[in-house]
Amino acid sequence: HKKLASFPKDFLWGSASAAYQVEGAWQEDGKGVSVWDEFVRIPGKTFKATNGDMAVDHYHRYKEDIALMKEQGLKTYRFSVAWTRIFPNGRGEVNQKGLEFYHDLIDELIKNDIEPMLTLYHWDLPQALQDEYGGWESRKIIDDFTNYATTLFEAFRGKVHYWVSLNEQNVFTSLGYMLAAHPPGVQDPKRMYAVNHIAFLANATVINKFHEMNMPGKIGPSFAYTPNYSIDSNPKNVLAAEDAEDLMANYWMDVYMWGKYPIAARNYLLEQGWAPEIEEGDQELLESAKPDFLGINYYQTATNMFNPLDGVGMGKMNTTGKKGTSEESGIPGMYKKVDNPFVNRTNWDWEIDPEGLRIGLRRITSRYRIPVMITENGLGEYDKLTENNEIHDEYRIEYLSNHVHAIREAISDGATVLGYCTWSYTDLLSWLNGYQKRYGFVYVDQDENQDGSLARYKKDSYYWYQKVIQENGENS
Ligand code: BG6
Repeated sequence: HKKLASFPKDFLWGSASAAYQVEGAWQEDGKGVSVWDEFVRIPGKTFKATNGDMAVDHYHRYKEDIALMKEQGLKTYRFSVAWTRIFPNGRGEVNQKGLEFYHDLIDELIKNDIEPMLTLYHWDLPQALQDEYGGWESRKIIDDFTNYATTLFEAFRGKVHYWVSLNEQNVFTSLGYMLAAHPPGVQDPKRMYAVNHIAFLANATVINKFHEMNMPGKIGPSFAYTPNYSIDSNPKNVLAAEDAEDLMANYWMDVYMWGKYPIAARNYLLEQGWAPEIEEGDQELLESAKPDFLGINYYQTATNMFNPLDGVGMGKMNTTGKKGTSEESGIPGMYKKVDNPFVNRTNWDWEIDPEGLRIGLRRITSRYRIPVMITENGLGEYDKLTENNEIHDEYRIEYLSNHVHAIREAISDGATVLGYCTWSYTDLLSWLNGYQKRYGFVYVDQDENQDGSLARYKKDSYYWYQKVIQENGENS
């Protein structure tokens, strides 16, 4: 661009977290048990068997954390509510103490001029619902999720203006039911697509409810968007990339935005016998729900090439933190993921591609014409605390500043971007990777044995972001 557009005046510079990863206090004040509380206790599931029982103790230290946000100048803080604090068994009577915690948190944010952004569901499903009817595998969850959401809408009406319905439905369904890496640890594509369809219905119902209640504010889902590239201009590979985009991205975004599954992907699933059953009324429901924004969690892109029928299938995830340990993965007859030779990779083999964010924002803008909220973006790395309690995370500053620049370019291209939440605010528990993989602006002294002091230290990136916010991104 000859001339870059400025960020809008009311741009929401923010940062994000999720209840299970920060709160701790897993049995306090009447909280019920979630599927994650149970899953982490199964040997071999997480790095060094780390659990979130204590996490980074945000439950008791939220005031300290919010004071740091205030000093940094944060405009919004995205957090999730633990369903099990509100309804310990998923439904029934409200646990007032649980609700009170979020009232206190939200009031504290507002008092400090920080816009609360509330995620209704960031994966910590009440275990009671999993036991009773298989959680997301039953349509009964639609009513229970709507009841839970409505309780929060009523409680925080007028206080919370930004609501995220489901966090990364594509991730929790795929990792939960296809890769067996998340609860309930299932490996069955048919069940995965069935669960995913029910999650769409729950999402649509809650969005409609929000609008029926005339809630002041906006609501939308957060999608983990990994834009797909082709390795080269071989038409076979270009088609492979289209297939990947259809099956891994449009399969979710089209349903959120249009209520329709992409045709080629749906036909492929029908052929495999994996397609979800669409009952009477489903189609109408999906088409009636209109999100106010699309939340995007952006970490990387994926590069693809044609994968023959006898080619690689689903791979395994890299949780060791050793480069080069990611397995090949793909769908036989369609595509397989390959390394992009033009980008660098993190220690967990995640590709670093700021330009991909601009590309993704442009695709979304062209296809849907919907405002985007970037609800997550960040770099997970080993951070080192120096003797003077400093953290020189220049690699994170580089990563984030390149992504901020890419957003500015996308805005110049014509995308509407409402805000940018980095992942994460403080360091927190990485679901599968313990505390070795850190994302925060604020370092937390915590480790896999949960015997850290929990003290908070500002990283260099903290000061960098403070300046970006002060300048409203003008030098980005
Ligand atoms: C997103 C999730 O998938 O990525 C976060 O919404 C998660 O909850 C983040 O922590 C980073 O993933 P990881 O595996 O590096 O911790």
